[in-house]
Amino acid sequence: MVPGFNLACRLAGEPGAGVLTFPPIYPPMLTAPGNASRGLLRSALKLVGSRWEYDWDGLDALHKEDARLLLLCNPHNPVGRAWTRDELTRMAWQAEKHDWLICSDDIHCGLVIDPAARYTPIAALDEAVAQRTITLMAPSKTWNIPALGCAFAVIPNAHLRRQYQILARGLMADVNVLGLTACEAAYRDGGPWRAALLDYLHGNAQRLHAAVNAIPGLHMTPVEATYLAWIDCRALDLPSPQKHFEAHGLGLSDGRDFGLEGFVRLNFGCSRGLLDEAIVRLQAALT
Ligand SMILES: Cc1ncc(COP(=O)(O)O)c(C=O)c1O
Repeated sequence: MVPGFNLACRLAGEPGAGVLTFPPIYPPMLTAPGNASRGLLRSALKLVGSRWEYDWDGLDALHKEDARLLLLCNPHNPVGRAWTRDELTRMAWQAEKHDWLICSDDIHCGLVIDPAARYTPIAALDEAVAQRTITLMAPSKTWNIPALGCAFAVIPNAHLRRQYQILARGLMADVNVLGLTACEAAYRDGGPWRAALLDYLHGNAQRLHAAVNAIPGLHMTPVEATYLAWIDCRALDLPSPQKHFEAHGLGLSDGRDFGLEGFVRLNFGCSRGLLDEAIVRLQAALT
């Protein structure tokens, strides 16, 4: 996946062109534009009540004339949103208006854990959107097989697909047969396993949500998708929440790497016993 969106950045106009993305976001999406000699344009997500949303006013105000590519993450790591059809329609409209390519990293699409939420691929909105979109997918998150190295790009536009294939020559690793076989097995036979997983992860998310929000100084939003909790520690006023928690036996990701200080990301894709231990350590770290 990571080489996939790095490659997509090289399809964004000429060197110097802009790539627009939405922090806080998976860190390699912040460095991909620079790797391709493109400029990073940030439109920060905003917290509206208990929900992270695109900042439409901020996006309108952004100097984005040079943007050539929209880099999306759907569902969004780390905030756990599965973008709605309405949100994606509005974003696609921006892409049409400015003639942007779209690259959507949908690696977490099999992990919508909230029964009320739904995954919509932006390319499925309509044919015009599909024609400007590269959708990246993999079974690696949902079935926990990243080491088997099998991801793929869906590019309906023949010209764009050809450009992508030419750029990938000699750089993109071929998929190995283990990865291919595991991918096929996961999509073909892994449905019941995935259903049980979603149920378990939803239980973990609810448990963590209740525990975190009961700790003064911490706040987390409900997780619609992924196994990641994005925890707001700004009220604690610590120089580095990540280091503070690490000193108390918790290995969390630092929000700074995702483009937003004062937050940490906790991976709850683990057994309930381990999660309970993490909750105990979280509480202990703040007493
Ligand atoms: C949004 C997102 N994209 C890509 C990746 C990594 O994909 P890969 O291991 O296939 O490069 C991750 C893993 O954390 C991710 O969260």
